[in-house]
Amino acid sequence: MEARGRFITLEGSEGVGKSTNIAVIADTLRLLGIDCVTTREPGGTPFAEEIRQLLLSVRAEPVSPNAELLLMFAARAQHLSELIEPALARGLWVVSDRFTDATFAYQGGGRGMNTAVIEQLERIVQGSLRPDLTLYLDLDPEVAANRLADRERDRFELESRPFFARVRNAYLERARSAERYRIIDASESLEVVGQNIRAVIERFVQQSRAGSSAS
Ligand code: TMP
Repeated sequence: MEARGRFITLEGSEGVGKSTNIAVIADTLRLLGIDCVTTREPGGTPFAEEIRQLLLSVRAEPVSPNAELLLMFAARAQHLSELIEPALARGLWVVSDRFTDATFAYQGGGRGMNTAVIEQLERIVQGSLRPDLTLYLDLDPEVAANRLADRERDRFELESRPFFARVRNAYLERARSAERYRIIDASESLEVVGQNIRAVIERFVQQSRAGSSAS
């Protein structure tokens, strides 16, 4: 039977270079002979992408924090059952641009929602599934905002500087709390950030291979 794949997530605020670095992770895995799929949250399947549209579009009606939180987990439930779980079961590695750490950072940190509620939804939707490795691209929100510059902004990107400072603090607190996180300094050049990410992935693959040959 095919060994189960590994689940890698990439986190960080807008403007930190996640899209470029998702490709760096996938290319590094493929060079090491590992089949992987890349995906993103909210989204990743047609139905979940429709929920993403609902969540990101700028609208006049205020969105209730509970509605936002439940939609994030609704999209995640679909993403897990239709894409992530089947891929991992087939032995593919899954690389996701954001996952539940973003909920703790944005809804928990940014919106100030109760973390215990988020943990409960995490258990309901994911069971025991957690990422095997999470890379957090860390950047001062002021610098990140300048990188966004004149781009048209979605509902989250229109949030205030203090909101993004709370998001960063929540990410950092989580990233320092468990072994699966690696904090990457995203203030470096794209080239250096890419090199650092490649090094983390190569080490993780080595460890995974050593672990599976020992078992
Ligand atoms: P992005 O993937 O283009 O960065 O946009 C997704 C936006 O959704 C981003 O602003 C972060 C936000 N988000 C949450 O607020 N909670 C979540 O759980 C996830 C996955 C994303």
